[in-house]
Amino acid sequence: MGSYREFHRRSIAERDSFWAEEAKLVYWHKPFGKVLDYSQPPFAKWFVGGETNLCYNALDRHLAARGKQKALVWISTEVDQTRSFTYEELFSEVNRTAAMMQSLGVGRGDRVIIYMPMIPEAAFAMLACARIGAIHSVVFGGFAAASLAARIDDARPALMITADGGSRMGKVVTYKSLVDEALKLAKHPPKKVLLFKRGLDPAMRIVEGRDVDWNSLEKNFSGKSVPCAWLESSEPSYILYTSGTTGHPKGVQRDVGGYAVALASSMRRIFCGEAGESMFTTSDIGWVVGHSYIIYAPLIAGMTTIMYEGVPIRPDAGIWWKIVQDYKVAVMFSAPTAVRVLKKHDPAFLKKYDLSSLKHLFLAGEPLDEPTHVWITEALGRPVIDHYWQTETGWPLLSAHPGVEKTPLKMGSPSFPVYGYDVRLLHEVTGKPVADGEKAVVTITPPLPPGCMTTVWGDDARFVKTYFNDFKGQLVYSTFDWGIRDKDGYYFILGRTDDVINVAGHRLGTREIEEAVSMHPDIAECAVVGVADELKGQMPLAFAVSKSNSFEKKKLEREIMETVDRQLGAIARPKAVHFVTLLPKTRSGKTLRRSIQALAEGRDPGDLTTIEDPNALEQIKQALHP
Ligand code: PRX
Repeated sequence: MGSYREFHRRSIAERDSFWAEEAKLVYWHKPFGKVLDYSQPPFAKWFVGGETNLCYNALDRHLAARGKQKALVWISTEVDQTRSFTYEELFSEVNRTAAMMQSLGVGRGDRVIIYMPMIPEAAFAMLACARIGAIHSVVFGGFAAASLAARIDDARPALMITADGGSRMGKVVTYKSLVDEALKLAKHPPKKVLLFKRGLDPAMRIVEGRDVDWNSLEKNFSGKSVPCAWLESSEPSYILYTSGTTGHPKGVQRDVGGYAVALASSMRRIFCGEAGESMFTTSDIGWVVGHSYIIYAPLIAGMTTIMYEGVPIRPDAGIWWKIVQDYKVAVMFSAPTAVRVLKKHDPAFLKKYDLSSLKHLFLAGEPLDEPTHVWITEALGRPVIDHYWQTETGWPLLSAHPGVEKTPLKMGSPSFPVYGYDVRLLHEVTGKPVADGEKAVVTITPPLPPGCMTTVWGDDARFVKTYFNDFKGQLVYSTFDWGIRDKDGYYFILGRTDDVINVAGHRLGTREIEEAVSMHPDIAECAVVGVADELKGQMPLAFAVSKSNSFEKKKLEREIMETVDRQLGAIARPKAVHFVTLLPKTRSGKTLRRSIQALAEGRDPGDLTTIEDPNALEQIKQALHP
């Protein structure tokens, strides 16, 4: 493990020279003067004074050498279509989109909310924002109107970009009608909505004077070229909202230069993606994995990126492997839930196609259980690399580094700290480093490396308070994940320390779900916990107290689920709603979520000395096992 260890050591001990070297992987319009300004901890400014542009690095830079190479291949098994764009074609689409956005008044520093299905126009819009220095905030299409409205009010966009609809399992999902609803709820709606019509929602309404038709507008800007805005390295590139312990999502803000360097570097050292090869990331552009490894990193690396609209089992469970064969995919990135879904289908699908182009399959987003890791490794006959990171970090935090050294993989482990991250396992109470084999909180001693979040959008104080305040007296970044390191230095992630749950790789705050449940007029209070689920990893489970004594349980449960669908989206819908007359709380009024969760998973509820009324726990038990 010599070369990985040395690589990691240098990234921390010789930080400036190490990152100055990695920074050569990207194009700098103006060279940076200083590698890192850490004069105001924990705020880190990387590559100070340097000017660059994400879109330039993703597109312009490749035109001379690979203009005719495919840059983006879009495959939709939902509408049975495939569209491909060479670097030249993608460049011209992005320029045209940038011109369209400018014509709608969008300039440098303005926010643009992108609420779109997985279609090439979503990629054009993101890259066009990057080109002109506008700050995109992509909102996952599965979020409902109220969630979208909360993000609109926080970001205050100059423009929203959407489409009439998307499709999932052959069913149309109407995006535009949700946008209309969100804009009614929002206090700070944008003046314009740019609308791409796919012909999926014939009943869609147009709001005159506000909605602008993409296809009509683009006719005015054919062949238009828009120069790149040269941004100082620390200027914001995007905001991506993520769930935490409060009901109010945080806008994770990312820079330009640090992000470009981290992504370019990760493609070389971790993902081993070479220019000219194909990368297939099965995530959605609404999540951080989609930002980093569908859009920016593969393009910065000069690869062909594959964007997929569909599910892994339609038309059959071989579709992803057919894509690997047809497009000679070299690097694939997916999530454990998808693999667990495939595991339920005939393994012959994995043998049906020629997968010889595939170097590695990377999996992240949620814990990868050992049996699933073993199954997919054997079925594929390729290294399957579990790696761990967060929306906040933007790129891997724990991983194997096959581009540095091919270290042996351990099933169920995301291997080692990624270079640049000074990872420590600290005791929850004492804040002291723990011995190997002891469970503790995964932390990073700042400065955070390039590519990580630079602050919470519009709220520097919240950035410090949320992430750096857990170990009093010590300024350390908490991941809010439990971890353990074995005697060989391999890490294992053991779930969250906070009230965040992970449903099929989708990160959700239980408080957000509780607030949504409480929107039902008949609910007095509730507690939502994440319980283990064989397929999705975790599922939300709700315990609610009704305002009245007589109600029909099934009816109220259904109504609550519909309320959650409306407030947050179907991804947050509880598996079940159990009714109780009181919730277990401490004497100071804190709900004992960990105890409820333990009971729901059939474990010991733990220390109950602080409970106000033990009766409440009995009710939870009764509700779970009537
Ligand atoms: O709890 C960890 C879990 O997902 C969280 C981050 O989710 P998100 O912000 O959506 O970013 C996903 C980026 C891949 C983490 O705090 N998580 C992510 N990867 C793993 C994981 N848990 C266990 N093993 C992993 N490989």
